[in-house]
Order: sequence, then C-alpha cells, then structure tokens
Amino acid sequence: MRSLNVAIIGQNFMGKAHSHAWRNAPRFFEMGARPVLKVACGRDQATLERFAHTWGWEETSSDWRDVVARDDVDVIDICVPTNLHAEIAIAAAEAGKHIFCEKPLSRTSAEARAMLAAATDAGVVHYLNHNYRRVPAIMLAKRLIDDGFVGRIFHWRGSYLQDWIVDPSFPLTWHLQADAAGSGPHHDLNSHSIDLARFLVGDIASVSAMTTTFVRERPLPGAGAATFSAGAGEVSETGEVTVEDAAFMLAEFENGALGSFSASRFASGRKNHHTFEIYGSEGSITFDLERLNELEVFSRHDPSYLQGFRTVLATESEHPYISAWWPPGHTIGYEHTFHHAVVDFVAAVADGAAIAPTFDDGLRETLVLEAALRSAADGVRVTVEQG
Ligand SMILES: NC(=O)c1ccc[n+]([C@@H]2O[C@H](COP(=O)([O-])OP(=O)(O)OC[C@H]3O[C@@H](n4cnc5c(N)ncnc54)[C@H](O)[C@@H]3O)[C@@H](O)[C@H]2O)c1
Repeated sequence: MRSLNVAIIGQNFMGKAHSHAWRNAPRFFEMGARPVLKVACGRDQATLERFAHTWGWEETSSDWRDVVARDDVDVIDICVPTNLHAEIAIAAAEAGKHIFCEKPLSRTSAEARAMLAAATDAGVVHYLNHNYRRVPAIMLAKRLIDDGFVGRIFHWRGSYLQDWIVDPSFPLTWHLQADAAGSGPHHDLNSHSIDLARFLVGDIASVSAMTTTFVRERPLPGAGAATFSAGAGEVSETGEVTVEDAAFMLAEFENGALGSFSASRFASGRKNHHTFEIYGSEGSITFDLERLNELEVFSRHDPSYLQGFRTVLATESEHPYISAWWPPGHTIGYEHTFHHAVVDFVAAVADGAAIAPTFDDGLRETLVLEAALRSAADGVRVTVEQG
C-alpha cells in the first residue's frame, strides 16, 4: 500500500490529538494510504524528543522551514498558534505538500486569501480542521436537515462557553494576544460555531456583535500569581491582554434564518460547553458536545399527545464512522473526531475524494469573524463579504 509521509508542526494540545489520530486511524479504518509519522517539529528539543518517542514519530526537527523543504514529506500538519498558520501553509503549498491545518484558518481574511491562493495554485489538498463536523451525531443532524426533517430553518442558537481564564492570575499565553491569535474566544470558539452553522444552516449575510474584556492585565507566563496580585505597578511582570474575553454575535443567514452565537472564556463552571439548537418549520435539533454521542430531535409530525424532544444515540452502525469502532451504545469521544478527519484527509489525498472544510470555507468563516469584530468596534450591523 502507498505510504503518506506526515510532518507535524507543533507538539502540544493539538500535536497530541493529531499524533494519536495519524497513528491509530489505520488500526480501525480501511485507508487508501498508510500514514507514516515521519517528522515532529517543535521548539523545545527536550520535550520534543519525549513527544516523538511517545507517539512514534521517526525524527524530530526544530525548524519548520527545513521540514517543509524535505522531499520525503507529503503532508504538513499545522498545530501551532494561529499567527504561524499562513506562513507555514503558504510555504508548504509552494513545496507541493498537502496541508492539514488547525482552526481558525488565520488571523485575517488577507492571510486566508493568500493561503487559499497558494494551495489552489499548487493543486494540493487543503483541509481546515473543524473536527466537530465529523461527530457522527452532527453528521446525523446534517442528514436530517438535508432530508427535510427540520424544514425551513428559522433559528440557529450556537454557544461555546469555557471558564479556563476566569482566575485573573492565569498567565498571558498566546491565546490572549491578538498578534498571535487574531482575537480571543471569537476566533477560537465562535469559529467552530460559525463552521457548524455554515455546514448545517448556510452562509451568513450580516452580523451585529459585542465583545468585552474583563481582565485587561495578566502575569507574563512564568511570573507568579503573587507578583500579579501586588498590583498594576509591577508592569515588568504583567502584560496587556489584547483580545476580548467574550464575543456575542447576532447573525442573519442568506436563507433568512436568524441566529445567535455566544463565545466566552468567562462562563464559570462551563468547561467545553459547545452547543447548538436549530429550529425549523417541521422540527428541531439540538446538540451538546459534552454529550457528543447524542442528538436531541423534535418532530412537529409526531402525534400531539407524544410531542417532545427525544434523544437519539448516534452509535448505530449506519451512523457515519461508527461501524469502524464499537458495537451500538459503546460510545466514542473527543479524540475520535480527529481520527475521522485523518481518515477523510487520507481519502482526499490517496483517492481524490472531496473533503470539507477547505481553505475556501476558512476564508468565508474569517470574513464573518472580521465583520463581527468591525461591528463590535463600530457599534453597527455589518454585511459579510462573500468570498
Ligand atoms: N480543533 C480543535 O478543537 C482545536 C483545539 C485546540 C486548539 N486548536 C488550534 O490548534 C492550534 C494550536 O493550538 P494548541 O492548543 O495545540 O496550542 P499549544 O499552545 O498547546 O501548542 C502550540 C505548539 O506550537 C509550538 N510552536 C510554537 N511556535 C512554533 C514554531 N515556530 N515552530 C514549531 N513549533 C512551534 C509550541 O511549542 C507548541 O508545541 C491553534 O490554531 C488552535 O486554535 C484547535
């Protein structure tokens, strides 16, 4: 069988999730090519060696440019902070590598356009990893919508809430710096919701948004919480937060549906509370990532004495991907979504299968993100540029 040599750039959270998927997916799925974990690239050599050993990467490198230039690498897998996505993806495309890129695609639409142009010109496969599209229950939602179960869609209500920075002594990591992240939970979390909304409901025509920042100064990574609590005079130990802590957005879809999106890192008690609700003329669907095997469905066609939401456990063999895993009811989790992405990406490279979302979807999503930030800054509703 043909092999596909993969190089991963970034060795932490997404580095682990992707490594696990590249290594494990062929054990469960029939694949048209065998991924080879060729090179792991990161900045800290000591932890990089450990990472490579743990996940079975053959070699390590501390320079992504060397990795991208290698003749024996077919795929560049981008798992680094968002400000590096464009430079690495464009270099990878120019070197003829297929690209598996973490979300959000980029900080700005200018970067997104350049990435899309480079990948399209090079004729390489470009995939943006909004892994939640590949939750079987969400794919079931898509099928139900396409089959008319929901009918005309009136409303989307998407919410992505976390609480990991409520403590003001949490350090100023890259996620809290606009130069690195684009924006805060808006780029990080609303991007996921926007992708699902585009997948399930359709394109977004205009938005109106508000953002706010609750903690404007944080200790620099490595600086102690005690120093931070000494007060704002200790400027050498703290830095300015340059992103929002919460971003709420109202949206009108091209098809007339009205939607809302809430993203926050200040929702105490919410760890990874990613939910959506879709309400239509024939029925409704709701999803909660913390119960990701389940879809709640409501049909207006049920007899009135039986009407109510019911829970579908999306673990039957006819639900997407499930037959490769376990018998019905034996449930899958977060890491499986990355496996599904790897399986589909390999099919795109090896067999020419279609894959989404692509960098084109990433550009459209970035245009929504930007329109919302403009709306929040100017206090007006903003029309979203389409592509
Ligand atoms: N799909 C998802 O659900 C999901 C979840 C979390 C993060 N993400 C995205 O994944 C990307 C990475 O996020 P993360 O949470 O893994 O970040 P992280 O901070 O945990 O890890 C980033 C990694 O990049 C490495 N790195 C930074 N600069 C580098 C360079 N110049 N060369 C090589 N390596 C470098 C760091 O050493 C670190 O290993 C981001 O774009 C983020 O938005 C996606």
